[in-house]
Amino acid sequence: MNHPITLTVNGVVREATVPARRLLSDCLRHDLGLTGTHVGCEHGVCGACTVLLDGEPVRSCLMFAATADGHEITTVEGLAAADGTLSPAQRAFAECHGLQCGFCTPGFLCTVTAFLRENAAPTDEEVVEAISGNLCRCTGYQNIIKAVHRAAELQAETRADKEEGAR
Ligand code: FES
Ligand code: FES
Repeated sequence: MNHPITLTVNGVVREATVPARRLLSDCLRHDLGLTGTHVGCEHGVCGACTVLLDGEPVRSCLMFAATADGHEITTVEGLAAADGTLSPAQRAFAECHGLQCGFCTPGFLCTVTAFLRENAAPTDEEVVEAISGNLCRCTGYQNIIKAVHRAAELQAETRADKEEGAR
């Protein structure tokens, strides 16, 4: 049996009709065409499929699309500003070479974006803990850790610029 669902994805109301057991990751990729969300293990281990559900990171391969009905989702496609300006985390990953093949990157970016909202100036240990649910087969993690610290700096600069502009 199919269910009509409505999701707000990256600020846009999207509708789909899905079987009860359709995974949110498959709904995003196949029904809504948002292929930035990657699927690796499909059983909750690798974190590649991480998206934000009402601002909190979730593994979209572990959630049914129907469960997300009525909620707000942010995927990697929604992290940049409307004018295309990359988010602090996106800029930092590029600057610090926090990716190689890029398969894991959308999941890392979503995880890190939510993390830095809660902890704007993390320690190394806090960063390692925050990204411990995201697996990367390429980078050895050191540049990802650097990228998270750089993202925190860029986020602070962006906030300071906004405050300056508001004066
Ligand atoms: S694809 Fe979802 S955790 Fe690996
Ligand atoms: S950059 Fe290849 S898996 Fe992380």
